[in-house]
Order: sequence, then C-alpha cells, then structure tokens
Amino acid sequence: RILILDFGSQYTQLIARRVREAGVYCEIHPYDLPAEILRAFAPRGVILSGGPPSAHEDTAPRPDPAVFALGVPVLGICYGMQVMAALLGGIVAPAAQREYGYAQVRLCAHSHLLDGIEDHLDPEGQPLLDVWMSHGDRVESPPPGFDVIAATEHAPCAAIADDSRGFYGVQFHPEVTHTRQGRRILERFIHGICGCQHLWTPTNIIAASIERLRAQIGEDGVLLALSGGVDSSVVAALLHRAIGDQLTCVFVDNGLLRLGESEQVMKTFVQHLGVRVIRVAAEERFLNRLKRVTDPEHKRKLIGNAFIEVFEDEAARLPNIKWLAQGTIYPDVIESAGAKTGKARVIKSHHNVGGLPEQMNLRLVEPLRELFKDEVRQIGIELGLPYEMVYRHPFPGPGLAVRVLGEVDKESLELLRHADHIFIEELRQAGLYDQVSQAFAVLLPVRSVGVVGDNRIHAPVIALRAVETLDFMTARWAHLPAEFLEQVARRIVNEVAGISRVVYDITSKPPATIEWE
Ligand code: XMP
Repeated sequence: RILILDFGSQYTQLIARRVREAGVYCEIHPYDLPAEILRAFAPRGVILSGGPPSAHEDTAPRPDPAVFALGVPVLGICYGMQVMAALLGGIVAPAAQREYGYAQVRLCAHSHLLDGIEDHLDPEGQPLLDVWMSHGDRVESPPPGFDVIAATEHAPCAAIADDSRGFYGVQFHPEVTHTRQGRRILERFIHGICGCQHLWTPTNIIAASIERLRAQIGEDGVLLALSGGVDSSVVAALLHRAIGDQLTCVFVDNGLLRLGESEQVMKTFVQHLGVRVIRVAAEERFLNRLKRVTDPEHKRKLIGNAFIEVFEDEAARLPNIKWLAQGTIYPDVIESAGAKTGKARVIKSHHNVGGLPEQMNLRLVEPLRELFKDEVRQIGIELGLPYEMVYRHPFPGPGLAVRVLGEVDKESLELLRHADHIFIEELRQAGLYDQVSQAFAVLLPVRSVGVVGDNRIHAPVIALRAVETLDFMTARWAHLPAEFLEQVARRIVNEVAGISRVVYDITSKPPATIEWE
C-alpha cells in the first residue's frame, strides 16, 4: 500500500483516486504524521502531495524526516518535491515567474520514472511532455545524489530523480488529466518503482470487507436506515452478502420520494437480493408535521426529527440489534479529519441519522469508510445492484419537501412527482442523464396564466434544474439543447394537469445553490 502525505493541495484526493485506479490501496494522512506511525503503516511507497505554502520559508510544513529513512521510494509532487528538495539539501526559491496551467517539459536525463514516456519529440529528438503546472516556488538546484531529469523554460528542475534511493520529484501535477501521461507516470511509480501489485479490485475489496465484517459483527444483529441512495444501498448489499439475515433494513417511506421510488427500492432489495427490509409507511406522519410550515430549514429539521422517531420506534421492536450501519465514505472521513485539524476546508455535509447511535446505545459499522464514491459504485455493480440505482443522481434527505417551495401538501407533491418523472425520463431517453450531475424539477408557489382549450387557467409553474459539477460545491447550469427542453416543457404542460408553464434555471452555483430551498 501507498501512503500519501497531505500538504493541503486541492488535488490530494485526486492523487489517491489515481493510485486506487491503478489497483493499489492507499491512504491520505496529514503531512506531519509522526515517525512511529509512518513506520507502523509500512507503506511500499510514499507520495508527498502538493500544497499552497512556500517550501523555502521557515514556517513551511515539513514531513517527519523519517519518511526518507523508511527504505521505500518517495515521490514528491509540486510542493511535495520542493519540500523533499529542501529537506535533503537542495535549494528552493521563489520563481521569477509563476507557472500556472499548461507547460511543456523537456526530458533531459534518464530515470526509472520517466524513461520511455513522452507526448512529442522536439527537433533534436528529445522527448517532451505536456503537463499541468501550478507553482510559485521552484527548485533551483537539486539535493546531492539527484539528477535533473526534466526542465521547462521557467523551472530548470521540473523533475528530479535519485534512482538509487527511489526518490523522485515532479514540479507538475501527474494526477490531473491535463497532464496527458500523468496516469502512466503514477503507474510507473506505483508498479514499476514501488513494486505494488494490481490487487485493489472490486472483487478483492468485497472479499476483504466481508471477512472483516464477519469478524467484527459475529452473531449480532445490524440495523441500517436504507434510503435507496447509492451509499446506503451498497452498504445493504455488502452487509447482506456478509451476514445475511442478521441485517435488518428500515426503509422509511415518508411520502416525499420520487415517482415509483418506494416500490423500486422494495423490488430491488427484497425480491431481487433477498434482503430483509421493513418498509414503514409514514407518509401521513410526515405530511401532518409539515402542514403550514414554509421555512426551508424548519422543514428540514421537522423531517430529520420525524425520521429519527420512526426509525427508533422500529428499532425498539427488533431484538438483538447491536450495531448501526452507516454509509460513511472516505471523503467524509478525510474531510472530518481535516476539519478537526483545520487543514482542509470544511465542506457542508448532510447527515440524516447523525446522533442516532449514541442515543440508541448501538455501535457503528461503516463498511465504506475506506472507499471513494467511484469505488462504492463499482462494488455496488459487482454486488448485483442495478446500474440505474448505482449511477443515480444524488437526492436530498428531505426529499421533495425542499422542491415544493413553500407549504407542502399531497396534491403539490403529486404534481411535482409527475413533472420530475417526465424530465428524468426524457433525459434518459436522450442519453443526457449521465452527462449531468444532478437534474430535477421544482414546483414554484406562483400561479401563471395559461390557455387550455378555450379556457384560461391560473396554475403553478415548474422550474427545471440541471447542473454539471464534480464536487457539488460549485456547479454550472447544464447547457441542455433547446429542442430537448422544449420537448420536456411540452410534455409537462400537456400531461400534468395543473401546470401552466415550465421555466429553466440558468443560474450557476455560486451564487445560487443547486436546490431551490
Ligand atoms: P445545495 O443546494 O446546497 O446542494 O447547492 C448541494 C448538494 O446537496 C444536496 N442537498 C441535500 N442533501 N439533505 C441532503 O441529504 C439536505 O438537506 C440537502 N440540501 C441539499 C443537493 O441535492 C445537492 O446534491
């Protein structure tokens, strides 16, 4: 396994995903991991991430020097290379000119890292690489024992190597796709130089998790709040494979779900996979609570509380439950660790069942804690979950309640459900569903005029929202084709009696959020 020391680059998670995609397990830890833990981790290789700080300043974050005495290869990326150079006796200084964006580096000496990797040849036959750079400092002269293996106009040491110790530094970012050979370079380091094998595959991940879950849980019962979202669905499928009927899922049908969703969840898990699922019909309870409530945060709170009540009622009836399963994934773990140490930016998270385990005296089991979302999806497919479920857009915990703006009632939910279904069905048919990150309809609390036959109507308006995003923190509105939008609008006003008009939201985030409430 590979250890990644994080100096705070926005790309650190990307490095980890690339390593995992190369079939090798890795973990991200803070840059100042103490020597004992470094040694106990026993990595096959270490990657030092990039980071915003300057390596030549005294206050610059440094790894424990033990990292260079583990006897394993080390790859420093951007700041990681600078800090390695500074610690091993090289010279780092501010560059006269910042390099940001595309650059071409010329390979100028042999190394195990870059030999045979090239995008072009220059007129003299020297290999060139197209890379992505983002740095203000640069290595002026490499530490003793290192060769300069690549250079650009503004960075005389764009890559350095000490083949004998297996230490390498690259000023550019091999983890981003703009560096065309980046994947090969990382694979060369991981497989060729560190000698890691391609063992981190969905089949192996599942086998290892099952073994661990069985050892952890023994004969106890486990409870899971199944929402039908990707993470809880994969947890259900995995735990079912590991412990069969010791797993009980509670699926709360709160009346705020999409068209056919409740039936779909029951069909997939109960009929198809044979999982024990208790479906709680709680529509009335939720809708009663929401009567006359219009404030979005108030809605969220009421729904969260109602959910916990329902869930606890059900759990109280089940004997022998000792564990509560949750779909926490690796980015949540890294982010909450980062939030504690103040190293990473705090990202808004929505935990629907937070606080439950303490109140209920249950221990937590989180089988996806080590996995990235793309790995969760892959193992979901391998466990037999349907593609549409595993690659579904995210859906907020409070469901359609935050998409019926203002007061929520059964009739409004019906209208919205129907319009939303048409939008999603059309996206799928046009092959656009997987090209957008999230898409949905919103029911607006305004009435506009329409003419149906010979009659004027005053009826509510539907807004369509579709966005493209990688992290849901920022998002661009999706530039869906006008003809497509026209078709969706036509179907909605024709098929959903009680909708007068359809509008398309062309606001990006920020300043707008993805949801309307
Ligand atoms: P916003 O609207 O904040 O949404 O741009 C970002 C992402 O979070 C989802 N979202 C929620 N998820 N409970 C959830 O579980 C919530 O209260 C909630 N609010 C927003 C939203 O759908 C989008 O994917």
